[in-house]
Amino acid sequence: MATGVIFLIRCSIENSTGKDPRGPLYAGAPACGTCHKDIMQAHLNSPHYQTSGKVSFDELKKFIGAAHNMVYYEDSAGIIVEEKHSQFFQSYRSGGKEVRSEQLDIAIGSGEKAQTYAYWKNEQLLQLPLTYFTALQSWTNSPGYPARKPYFDRVILSRCLECHASYVTKTDFQTGPLQVSEKLAANSIIFGIDCERCHGPAAGHVQFHQENPAAQEAKFIVSIKSLTRQQQLDVCASCHSGNDLDVQRTLFAFRPGDTLANFYYPYFGSGGKEPDVHGKQMQLLQASKCFQQSKMTCQSCHDTHPLKVNTNDIYTAKCMTCHQNSEHALQMKTNSNSCVNCHMPLQSSRSLDFNNGTEMKSIPYLLRTHKIAVYPAPG
Ligand code: HEC
Ligand code: HEC
Ligand code: HEC
Ligand code: HEC
Ligand code: HEC
Ligand code: HEC
Ligand code: HEC
Repeated sequence: MATGVIFLIRCSIENSTGKDPRGPLYAGAPACGTCHKDIMQAHLNSPHYQTSGKVSFDELKKFIGAAHNMVYYEDSAGIIVEEKHSQFFQSYRSGGKEVRSEQLDIAIGSGEKAQTYAYWKNEQLLQLPLTYFTALQSWTNSPGYPARKPYFDRVILSRCLECHASYVTKTDFQTGPLQVSEKLAANSIIFGIDCERCHGPAAGHVQFHQENPAAQEAKFIVSIKSLTRQQQLDVCASCHSGNDLDVQRTLFAFRPGDTLANFYYPYFGSGGKEPDVHGKQMQLLQASKCFQQSKMTCQSCHDTHPLKVNTNDIYTAKCMTCHQNSEHALQMKTNSNSCVNCHMPLQSSRSLDFNNGTEMKSIPYLLRTHKIAVYPAPG
């Protein structure tokens, strides 16, 4: 696995008021580092923390430096990513002329697999036409965008940021008789997934331990380890169970110990299809015998800080904590055969659709299925 790239500037520390925009119950991530140094250090390097931020020209240049390809559309029109006065722009050129050019203001995605960009216009974030695809080290059309014409107008709603950031203030406004859109307050955004996004508001915890430095036992903070299995799963599932349910209450309000189902409207569809590998780790895991017949949680295989996508050997060891009585497994382990290659194979997402403009090449977005099962031997 590639290591993450730190190139985003965050304004959680220096937002305009100097206070946490979520209110007085929140302390903000910098406060946690004074007592939880190691966890803080690990967290700063995690894809969770790096999953959104303001674009920094110098750092982005190091990261995407080698990607100079143009993405072509109809009539030889194309988009190129270029530097102008120490900023990056995506510029649309047609017939030798520049038609449109917008700045890369904000990045979404750590770039572990891909990174997409947005620019501000009238208090809205609009997604830029090109996305950087890390495995190819090149630019592609943003997922789901038409292959014929460049598109600059997809609004990034707060829903994106509910999974890729820690907070934003939004105001709804009418755009037509039955249509509503959102304005986002730029200086309210807390980029990245911070400590309190998973642990809940912790200003009380910070104050208590500052005033009682000898206290060894944590106060005024939810202990995730002591929650029920479902509650522990819900902490992760709030962002890892996909995007297709209608949200009833903002997920920014979700705290450890809450019941996730209360945040969504009930789903009455048939649910017949196999959940997609993109974003639906929870549903896929739930469909596995391992999950159904044990007390497995996400922590059975992933440490949260440092957030690790482990090596295959470490995963094999995790499998063996429960499968030490399987002769097959023991044998495979001796032969250093990676369990996950056969039982959690890489699959291409059906919901994320990347293409290369008029080259019309469809680009597979590969993820590991979390449905642990017996699959036909890889070809
Ligand atoms: C003044 C010191 C101090 C600060 C600042 C601090 N903590 Fe703690 N925290 C502690 C101590 C002491 C413990 C108990 C020992 C331990 O688990 O490390 C603790 C434990 C915890 C636990 C484990 C709870 C459990 O029972 O499993 C979490 C979670 C936690 N802190 C989160 C945070 C977050 C989030 C922040 C920042 C908003 C923060 N802490 C800031 C001192 C501090
Ligand atoms: C993606 C969610 C997530 C984020 C972000 C996160 N944590 Fe945790 N944290 C957890 C979970 C889950 C556990 C319980 C782990 C377990 O079951 O062993 C935990 C456990 C802890 C503990 C208890 C000791 C330990 O290591 O198990 C402390 C202290 C803690 N977190 C502090 C922090 C601090 C400080 C930050 C920010 C720098 C942070 N966490 C960010 C999910 C998160
Ligand atoms: C607030 C939303 C949110 C929560 C809560 C959350 N995640 Fe994530 N997680 C994400 C996003 C977004 C990414 C993609 C990060 C990126 O690479 O840009 C991600 C990525 C990951 C990855 C892949 C990391 C890598 O190296 O590619 C793992 C593993 C993971 N999460 C596990 C967990 C676990 C376990 C929990 C619960 C303790 C959890 N997540 C809670 C949003 C969340
Ligand atoms: C319900 C939560 C959720 C929502 C909403 C969501 N994402 Fe994600 N996103 C994830 C998770 C989880 C991952 C990483 C693992 C995966 O692909 O399953 C991810 C991965 C990504 C990545 C690749 C990051 C990397 O390098 O691994 C990008 C880019 C991205 N999302 C952009 C967006 C944009 C733009 C939006 C809004 C249009 C959005 N996402 C909405 C949860 C979400
Ligand atoms: C927390 C315990 C636990 C862990 C960890 C675990 N499993 Fe399982 N797994 C089970 C149980 C229980 C069953 C059902 C009984 C059986 O077949 O042994 C099962 C069943 C299976 C099956 C049979 C599935 C089927 O549909 O017939 C496979 C294959 C499997 N596990 C592979 C793995 C692999 C690979 C890993 C590591 C990535 C793993 N397991 C990790 C508990 C676990
Ligand atoms: C039985 C072990 C196991 C469990 C349990 C597990 N994962 Fe994973 N996870 C993996 C493996 C293996 C990978 C792929 C690592 C790789 O390919 O380098 C992975 C990768 C991921 C990724 C990165 C996306 C990708 O496919 O590369 C995310 C996100 C993730 N896991 C989230 C979760 C969440 C959320 C849970 C709990 C609902 C969970 N995982 C439970 C084994 C597990
Ligand atoms: C080369 C592919 C391959 C690898 C590597 C592999 N398996 Fe399997 N596994 C299979 C197949 C095929 C089956 C079903 C046929 C059978 O039962 O032998 C299976 C069945 C299983 C079962 C259910 C039957 C039983 O024997 O308990 C479990 C559990 C399991 N595997 C766990 C593991 C674990 C753990 C590892 C890693 C140590 C592993 N497997 C490595 C292909 C593989």
